[in-house]
Amino acid sequence: MCGIIGYVGNNAAIPILIGGLESLEYRGYDSAGVCVLNKSELQVVKNKGKVIEIKNDKRINLIEGVCGIAHTRWATHGEPNEINAHPHTNSSNSIAVVHNGIIENYHSLKRLLEKEGYIFRSETDSEVLVHLVEKFYRNCSLGSAVLEALRLVEGTFGLAVVHKNKNEIIAARRGSPLVIGLGDNEAFLASDATALVKYTKRVIYLKDNEIAIINNKEIHIKNFDGENVSLNVENLKLEVEQIEKGSYKHFMLKEIFEQPDSVKRTLTGRLKNSRIKLSLNLQDIRSIQRLILVGCGTSWHSALIGKYLIENMAKIPVEVDYASEFRYRRPLVVRNDLVVGISQSGETADTLAAVREAKLLGANTIGLVNVVGSSIARECDSGIYLHAGPEIGVASTKAFTSQVTALLLLALYLAEIRGEKIEENLFRELENLPKQVKEVLSEADNVRKVAEKYYKSSNFIFLGRGINYPVALEGALKLKEISYIHAEGYPAAEMKHGPIALVDENMPTVFICTKDSTYDKIISNMQEIKARKGKIIALVNEIDPRLSVLADDVIFSQKTDEFLSPIVNSIPLQLFAYFIADLKGLDIDKPRNLAKSVTIE
Ligand code: M6R
Repeated sequence: MCGIIGYVGNNAAIPILIGGLESLEYRGYDSAGVCVLNKSELQVVKNKGKVIEIKNDKRINLIEGVCGIAHTRWATHGEPNEINAHPHTNSSNSIAVVHNGIIENYHSLKRLLEKEGYIFRSETDSEVLVHLVEKFYRNCSLGSAVLEALRLVEGTFGLAVVHKNKNEIIAARRGSPLVIGLGDNEAFLASDATALVKYTKRVIYLKDNEIAIINNKEIHIKNFDGENVSLNVENLKLEVEQIEKGSYKHFMLKEIFEQPDSVKRTLTGRLKNSRIKLSLNLQDIRSIQRLILVGCGTSWHSALIGKYLIENMAKIPVEVDYASEFRYRRPLVVRNDLVVGISQSGETADTLAAVREAKLLGANTIGLVNVVGSSIARECDSGIYLHAGPEIGVASTKAFTSQVTALLLLALYLAEIRGEKIEENLFRELENLPKQVKEVLSEADNVRKVAEKYYKSSNFIFLGRGINYPVALEGALKLKEISYIHAEGYPAAEMKHGPIALVDENMPTVFICTKDSTYDKIISNMQEIKARKGKIIALVNEIDPRLSVLADDVIFSQKTDEFLSPIVNSIPLQLFAYFIADLKGLDIDKPRNLAKSVTIE
């Protein structure tokens, strides 16, 4: 949620800030703003709408200066408009702040500050920060004033502050990520390392409860107790091409087509001679009694698949919980529980809080995370990085298939430890998986043709059974989030307990009916829909004469082991959602109301 970028050095700040906002736009895109210091003056330009509005604003061309901060917003408090856009400045326009997170006690702080005469302009929670910094900026450094201000603040923040007379940026973090990039006589600040890779690969991840004083000569980091923190400079393993669209129309399409490689990377070094190699530094992994898988959105769907995999292969009971529910329902977690936090970004606030809660309750924790060095990855006792590469499209695609692949590896690893027998054929299929993912992508043109027939429909139902029931949920989520078409996923047999009332000749139902242990059952469910004149789109991996009677349209997937089928089956559904949204002419990488990483509750 929200993207922050900062620059201090010897080059013009504006191109770097605008470029950074463009890279970070997937984090929020309802308004944006920049602030640059020039000759003891803060020059601020803010706009409602996407970053392009700021980029094309003529006022931007008049801004000069080599130190500044910028922000792209996903609104929480106050509607998306110019006044509520960041940066926020104090009344005398000497201090500016950009903020990501939520100030939970902003009401009481605002009342207090208003009583002292501070004038508020916006409806945001963030504005209290700039007035608080002004209040404490008396005979002390800007950094000390920010620290004093933050002592009063409850909630989460990643923030950056500048003062008109100081060529420096003060950055602080609690709960919202910030990374500092080191250049030659210049430094950068961003919510996400992807915005920095063009400029530098040397980065420092700010930790929670740390504050950084950044200028073009040096960086100084302290904890909130005022103690110095030594600088841990890391090398980014990221290439510029990975964060560019290349010849693809959208990041989502690029990421869908990257899946043969991303799945391969998840497997690399972890599968050899039918043995699984994971470096999980967990005490007593043999005594695990139960796993609890937590995540949100798409990551929750992969958790549901993980339950099938782990229970079937390793024979260990698994519970799946929405991270947001787990953290507040006083879960019964005991010592021999293993809690697995699943997250692409590694920053989702609810998943992070769920992992923390599990640790407090004495459980072991594992993170299945894509973004290296992210909060969840750092918080967990151990982890399996997905290595899917940067995922920029808001709709998760390659991270999902890598999550399921990583869960497969975890299931096999636990099965091996438990002495459970696994069919040799599964390992062969797993080695072959990237190839099958490539094969299934060759179906794209046919998927587009089917999408052309249905893109004007207002509602869809997605049905699957067993391990492919979560694939139905994921297919429905993909469609609704990028095409704004109402779609629901169900276990196919649940249809007749209510949702079947929705079926008529205008309602398309997508059936995931690849050959598996529930195949004949799902054919019966299809007949029930056909009897009510519903339109049927069947995702299949074998030609079956019964289907030519039942299905109005067919999309082909690949034949593979049932345990691997969610990976290949989800890909045509990603393409289906993509083509429908594209035919509707929508902004696929930045769907309305959404943001890529949800760092607030
Ligand atoms: O970064 P995370 O995996 O923790 O994100 C969780 C969800 O916010 C995310 O999967 C969301 O549902 C996606 N937009 C789905 O495409």
